[in-house]
Amino acid sequence: MAILVKNIKALVSTPADENALKSRVSGVDMAVLNCVEDSWLLLEGALIKDFGRMSDFENYKPQTLNLKLQIIDASEKFVFPSWCDSHTHIIYAASREKEFTDRVKGLSYNEIAQRGGGILNSARYIHEATEDDLAESALARLNEIMMMGTGAVEIKSGYGLSTEDELKMLRVIKKLKALSPLTIKATFLGAHAVPEAYKGNKQKYIDLVINEMIPRIADEKLADYCDVFCEEGYFTKEETIKILLAAFDKGIIGKVHAEQLSHSGGIEAGVECNAISVDHLEYANDSDIEKLKNSSTVPTILPGAQFFLQLPHPPARKMIDAGLPVAIASDYNPGSCPSGNMNLMVSLACLQYKMLPEEAINAATINSAYAMGLGKSHGSIAKGKKANIFITKEMPSIAYLPYSFGSNLIETVIVNGEIQKN
Ligand code: NIG
Ligand code: FE
Repeated sequence: MAILVKNIKALVSTPADENALKSRVSGVDMAVLNCVEDSWLLLEGALIKDFGRMSDFENYKPQTLNLKLQIIDASEKFVFPSWCDSHTHIIYAASREKEFTDRVKGLSYNEIAQRGGGILNSARYIHEATEDDLAESALARLNEIMMMGTGAVEIKSGYGLSTEDELKMLRVIKKLKALSPLTIKATFLGAHAVPEAYKGNKQKYIDLVINEMIPRIADEKLADYCDVFCEEGYFTKEETIKILLAAFDKGIIGKVHAEQLSHSGGIEAGVECNAISVDHLEYANDSDIEKLKNSSTVPTILPGAQFFLQLPHPPARKMIDAGLPVAIASDYNPGSCPSGNMNLMVSLACLQYKMLPEEAINAATINSAYAMGLGKSHGSIAKGKKANIFITKEMPSIAYLPYSFGSNLIETVIVNGEIQKN
């Protein structure tokens, strides 16, 4: 099956040939979004086959055009590479709107956690849930974000907090990889919080993570990445390094929840352990930015969680001006961001952190693809990359997409070369 999209107003994010293999964009390059106006795009099977200008279309006679071909007219519409969401906690068994109301009344994230809310609250529900129930509700959330333009997503464990429940969550992610057309990466987040049973004995829980959970997860090949919540009251910089190195030893690359509620050294830990990304970054400082400059670790901002918890803004503008690549993800989870709408994340990044629309779009596509190891196959329109795209409704310009925050401007979704919404 092949799909031809014709008369596209602009095909967005088509890196020039010599740049096509670059799997992320940094600094001033983030403001550049190569586009082909008045263009066509051919998808064959699960991949992007070719694209070009309508003026050259008559000269293009690929064999595919003789095959079964579905044609979509995209006059006055834009074609984007699908969003890549490199940070979610999409598997959970219960919503937490009671905590939302408590926060409206003035309680902080930490105060709510101390009163029995937060991560441990989600862990209680995960313990009771079956794999099938968790897979069913997570699949519904995956479908929801797919219809909003997401084509690849990272999913974390971290609401299990015991060997069996962490394995349960990771097995659910494995099931989702088979059930969903989305590209999915799995992250082990056993060090998300110290569970009730280990209260006052954090070291024993860290030993369990390192000596039991990581080896079993590595044996069963259940995780692509290992993450740690490096934060006051959760895990220190030193503990984060210890856990990430243990995972690295088993071939699992690190990620870090860093500098979200305080400056806790998560960025330093991530850089030291060659983590693929450090995420959140509300309390990142100038010295962190210097450290990131000499690393391959991608700073990832989560505008939804920052907004939902009303935290300080992460220094995204400063990071880009310092020449760094910045990625955007949703952090979709029941506690700090019950939304996986990447369109909204892009708008929030523009409005709150003064990122240009082009910068925010690069951050939510090619750079967030890189932040989950998919930079070479996802996140831009290039021959041979995954056929994950969305077609907008009629719009006047690219900036109209983040400008129209809260509106749904996505008309057609194609993931894995198949039309999922039209
Ligand atoms: O990314 N910061 C830690 N973890 C999640 C929130 C977890 C929760 O509240 O359930 C986050 O914001
Ligand atoms: Fe998170």
